[in-house]
Amino acid sequence: MRTSTSLPILLTLPSLTLCAGLWLSTTPQSSFPYALKKGAGTQLGSGETWNTFPVTGNSSAHAFTIMNTNGPKTPDNETVFPHVHRKTFENFYAAKGRVQLWGQGYNGWVSNTTEQTTRVLTQGDFGGIPNGTVHKFQMLEPDTQLTGVLVPGGFEEFFFAQADGFLNDPNTGFNFSALPEWDVYPYLNYTPRTDVVNNKAGPGNWYDGSNVYAEEVATGPIWVANNYGGKWLNREDGRYQIVAPLVTGAQSGGLFAQGHITISLQRNFTAPWATSTHATAFVVEEGQLAVTVDGYEKASLIGGDIVFIPPETKFTYEAEAEFTKVMYVSGGGEGLDAMLISRAESWTSAFYPRDQGSIFKRGVKI
Ligand SMILES: *[C@@H]1O[C@H](CO)[C@@H](O)[C@H](O)[C@H]1NC(C)=O
Ligand SMILES: *[C@@H]1O[C@H](CO)[C@@H](O)[C@H](O)[C@H]1NC(C)=O
Ligand SMILES: *[C@@H]1O[C@H](CO)[C@@H](O)[C@H](O)[C@H]1NC(C)=O
Ligand SMILES: *[C@@H]1O[C@H](CO)[C@@H](O)[C@H](O)[C@H]1NC(C)=O
Ligand SMILES: *[C@@H]1O[C@H](CO)[C@@H](O)[C@H](O)[C@H]1NC(C)=O
Ligand SMILES: *[C@@H]1O[C@H](CO)[C@@H](O)[C@H](O)[C@H]1NC(C)=O
Repeated sequence: MRTSTSLPILLTLPSLTLCAGLWLSTTPQSSFPYALKKGAGTQLGSGETWNTFPVTGNSSAHAFTIMNTNGPKTPDNETVFPHVHRKTFENFYAAKGRVQLWGQGYNGWVSNTTEQTTRVLTQGDFGGIPNGTVHKFQMLEPDTQLTGVLVPGGFEEFFFAQADGFLNDPNTGFNFSALPEWDVYPYLNYTPRTDVVNNKAGPGNWYDGSNVYAEEVATGPIWVANNYGGKWLNREDGRYQIVAPLVTGAQSGGLFAQGHITISLQRNFTAPWATSTHATAFVVEEGQLAVTVDGYEKASLIGGDIVFIPPETKFTYEAEAEFTKVMYVSGGGEGLDAMLISRAESWTSAFYPRDQGSIFKRGVKI
């Protein structure tokens, strides 16, 4: 029989061929594990300003959207008007260049019980805008990258609708009454303050003290200067991991969590399988991260590359270069970050211990 002769051939195929590759060329339209190289993903843009969506509502089952905006300074007469999202929590991160962001909780603004804040975000700085917060932003430098995390996922449909011209009004240029349908509520009488000194105006620290916040639901902007937020050191599994949240599950009311993990090289131990009840994404910022998702070939990610892992999916990750730093996004509280923090100690330094219990002199252990 034909089948009996072909069977031995099948059995000798290397098991690798049963594994799918993680790498895709663009963002998928449904949710499964994938990796994208820097700059890859669904695109939308014109002129010099480009938006790339490596994670969309469709690709994350609406857990979250990751949106990179690359471009030069936004001309002063072309900045977005002040607005509120009632459902979407929008997070601004300066991956490079400079971005100014203004924000104030809507209720505090209308009752005049809070003060408006603004920060100029330089590389590594973060501004979180909870739903119900008036905000406005402007890119400021020739080569700026604003990395946005929008939760729940799907807000990007607004930008595509806008590009398709659905919001154009032949008389006024822009159909403001069509915006609420897209979770955009303009407040044209909100006046962004212009009195920035040392990259800040309004209360709170900015490179002059810590940005550690209470673990309660945020009702106004969350400002975290690069490395000035809370940090935890996890020493498990033959490596160090510093977890530095930007927004915790508690601050987002369980909607999501976002932050950084800085990971040492694996010492003498293999990284264990992890799973989360939420979708998880890593964006590599420094070094090289190996990610293996159960049933897929290992992928090695470098700066700007992204991996998306759906809920309840087994994966491992490990640093393939010392001091590998990633941004994580979890589509709910109690994600990977919370699991690591629950088994970590509070930590103040941006570095993990370098000595591994020994002292080195000119590279030689003494
Ligand atoms: C998401 O999926 C819907 C339905 O298939 C489609 O209309 C929409 O264009 C997709 N959005 C993006 C950003 O790909
Ligand atoms: C902004 O100003 C520039 C330079 O004057 C002009 O070319 C551009 O059309 C203006 N944009 C808008 C939206 O009015
Ligand atoms: C808002 O409050 C500030 C400080 O309490 C006060 O100076 C200002 O006049 C108030 N503005 C309005 C419009 O009431
Ligand atoms: C933000 O969204 C949450 C969850 O949908 C909702 O319960 C809350 O009322 C919203 N907050 C504001 C200020 O709109
Ligand atoms: C503006 O949007 C509203 C609400 O979606 C719609 O009813 C109206 O027809 C739109 N106007 C124009 C000129 O498209
Ligand atoms: C190897 O790893 C184990 C488990 O983390 C640890 O107990 C042990 O001290 C390590 N040995 C060395 C030589 O680092």
